[in-house]
Amino acid sequence: MEIDVVGLFPEAVEGFCKIGVVGRAWERGTVALRFWNLRDFSAEKWRRVDDRPFGGGPGMVLMAEPVAMALAAARSRNPGATVVYLSPAGRVVDHDAVMALAARSGLVLLAGRYEGVDERVLCACVDEEWSIGDYVLSGGEAAAAVLIDAVVRQLPGVLGHEDSAREDSFVEGLLDCPHYTRPESWRKEPVPEVLLSGNHERIRTWRLKQSLGRTWLRRPDLLAERDLNAEQIRLLEEFKQEYRGYGHE
Ligand code: ADE
Repeated sequence: MEIDVVGLFPEAVEGFCKIGVVGRAWERGTVALRFWNLRDFSAEKWRRVDDRPFGGGPGMVLMAEPVAMALAAARSRNPGATVVYLSPAGRVVDHDAVMALAARSGLVLLAGRYEGVDERVLCACVDEEWSIGDYVLSGGEAAAAVLIDAVVRQLPGVLGHEDSAREDSFVEGLLDCPHYTRPESWRKEPVPEVLLSGNHERIRTWRLKQSLGRTWLRRPDLLAERDLNAEQIRLLEEFKQEYRGYGHE
């Protein structure tokens, strides 16, 4: 997959893309990443790309022409790419959206700043508008980095065995179970005994039960969306009884 990032601070996204899972995928060529600075497409003095909003009000707006020129340059290297504008006014990204975006041949991600981007260039040049959550960031760069991370880890061959296993838990629509490592006793707190038992079946059911229980406690909306099988129903019932047995309501 090829991903182009267009914005005022593309180097911030580029730095993020050099580390960890994304960095490795980039090195290996599973993903090609390119970064475009809007100021390089300014026709004005001092490489200016913003101006005051018509109608008045606070802040500045990114001008249509440099955005159109930068997107055209990115698209010429990445034909067939979907042009995505990151904005709090877009549809909120979830796991299904990430999978759909990961299936595209290419992405051009436009990160805005200030009050936004001239609406005319969005209408003319942008295919989709996505938000990473119902809160406002100071710019789209952090959102672009989030989207790249989530998308690249879904590309074939990117995740190793351990990460894939971890990923499975959210694909299942459940929150992950708790994890523990050495020492066995930390400040008098022991690790759950079952994890030291070496009994793989007991460990599997314990983990599944914790995932179900956590999802029930923290994200009941996720549980409401899915059908549990007989084992999962039984494990969740056990979790609820134990939870109430500890004096919780
Ligand atoms: N730019 C500013 N806020 C954003 C958000 N929540 N998602 C995506 N892009 C943004």
